[in-house]
Amino acid sequence: MGYEHIRVETKGHVGVITLDRPQALNALCAALIDEVNQALTQFETDDKIGCMVLTGSEKAFAAGADIKEMAELNFIDAYLSDFIASWEQVSRTRKPIIAGVAGYALGGGCELAMMCDFIIAADTAKFGQPEISLGVMPGAGGTQRLTRLIGKSKAMDLCLTGRMMDAEEAERSGLVARVVAASDLMNEVLKAADKIAGFSLPIAMMTKESVNRAYETTLTEGLRFERRLFHSMFATEDQKEGMTAFIDKRKPQFANK
Ligand code: HXC
Repeated sequence: MGYEHIRVETKGHVGVITLDRPQALNALCAALIDEVNQALTQFETDDKIGCMVLTGSEKAFAAGADIKEMAELNFIDAYLSDFIASWEQVSRTRKPIIAGVAGYALGGGCELAMMCDFIIAADTAKFGQPEISLGVMPGAGGTQRLTRLIGKSKAMDLCLTGRMMDAEEAERSGLVARVVAASDLMNEVLKAADKIAGFSLPIAMMTKESVNRAYETTLTEGLRFERRLFHSMFATEDQKEGMTAFIDKRKPQFANK
């Protein structure tokens, strides 16, 4: 399939989507988001793919929603078209997805990275929610996901001042899972994705579903949900294989069943 604003490739069992709109620092125009959604659907429905990666360039993961496209938008059009709703497909993916972030992840770029399951950042990464300087506020999770990830105080600091946070501060704050040297970013991201793709896909998907539930429910309900999913895993061949392989001192061969 031909794409204009992204590159899509398969590396073993990992599906990689690279934002590729360098003239605008990967600003997230509607056409780019449509392409990302098509690529996500392609990988979600491909039995061979066990994990996905969303990444950008050395200079920018994404410098935000496309300001030039948004500038003339009015309330009625934004409301009737439910502007931004289509971005949510990243957060609805059922297979694991890792964001590999180098350079700017600003506004909608930071929000898109937060829709992934976790972020591995290059030491050059810069995160921020500068929307306030444009006369708006974050609209795709910057006041919600960011607050859950880094807490009220820092989220307020970033959203109200519009300042940028470097990779080290982002890791310290809990926004980023790991920071690596910029030259190692894709190696490390692909290594993590490959590791995940080597496990049982249904078990990885259920694990993702269970961690996400922690954000959406009370502890009591979350623990109940976790336990039910945990019980259900004993109905899979992969549980039998994983535990038998441990006892037999060999590497498991998961069948994804
Ligand atoms: C459209 C953008 C853009 C954006 C950069 N460009 N960011 N175009 N939308 N978000 C374009 C510039 O206009 C310029 O195009 C080219 O990319 C290079 O950018 P420069 O500014 O020349 O680069 P530099 O001086 O290196 O500065 C980098 C930067 C700056 C600090 C990242 O570009 C910047 O502040 N960008 C805007 C960041 C931002 O405010 N993001 C939030 C957007 S609102 P030309 O044609 O002039 O060469 C948002 C709302 C989300 O995300 C709400 C829900 C989704």
